[in-house]
Amino acid sequence: MKKYFEKKFWKYIYRRSLNNWYKRNFSSPSPEFVKHEIIKKNNLDNSLWIETGTYYGDTTNLLSNLSSKVISIEADKRLYDLAVKKFQNSKNIQIINDKSQSILEEILKNNQNHKNICLYLDAHLCMDHLTKEPTFKEENLETPIMVELNIIEKFLTKFDRVNILVDDIRLFDGKTQNYPNLNEIVDWARKNKSNWFIEHDIFIIKFQANSI
Ligand SMILES: C[S@@+](CC[C@H](N)C(=O)[O-])C[C@H]1O[C@@H](n2cnc3c(N)ncnc32)[C@H](O)[C@@H]1O
Repeated sequence: MKKYFEKKFWKYIYRRSLNNWYKRNFSSPSPEFVKHEIIKKNNLDNSLWIETGTYYGDTTNLLSNLSSKVISIEADKRLYDLAVKKFQNSKNIQIINDKSQSILEEILKNNQNHKNICLYLDAHLCMDHLTKEPTFKEENLETPIMVELNIIEKFLTKFDRVNILVDDIRLFDGKTQNYPNLNEIVDWARKNKSNWFIEHDIFIIKFQANSI
């Protein structure tokens, strides 16, 4: 019923985001509902989903409809507490209060029973749109992305297929905070014999163990 309603009235449901996007000349970032379509398209069957940066849990919620298990890591204690409350009745969602770069290795180590794994890497400092305050912040480390990728690299061959979605790729210009240059992440994908492409501000890396 919800799906039917959404299909029929999507322009109405998303009219505000569409108007804002139009006013921004359809530039990046794309509205959340568009990004969510990209995430759905790049889901792998029977996979564990890991999200870094839970924020208010909108994407966590989407992922819980795609997968039997979602682990989302949030460093900001206030946002973590809100997410725990929001998902208290969702049996397939685990929220962890930690820095992704500190806990990701342990999570991957403990979940090697999964055939496939998908990761949505979205942990970074941002302005909270409700409190208008910055979220979790570490001096000189706005994004832990390269640390996250270097951890994931150690586990790639432990799974059949790994899809990695890195959000906000527009910021990877080598000038914004500690965001690396796009070349660095392309080099990472090439070094790990993975396919990569960009859709709607999301850098997508696809690794398949039996293709190497
Ligand atoms: C852009 S928001 C995430 C949005 C969310 N993934 C979504 O799609 O709705 C970034 C979040 O990452 C969190 N964060 C920042 N640095 C982090 C880190 N090192 N580890 C985990 N979370 C972090 C921030 O507190 C913030 O809530």
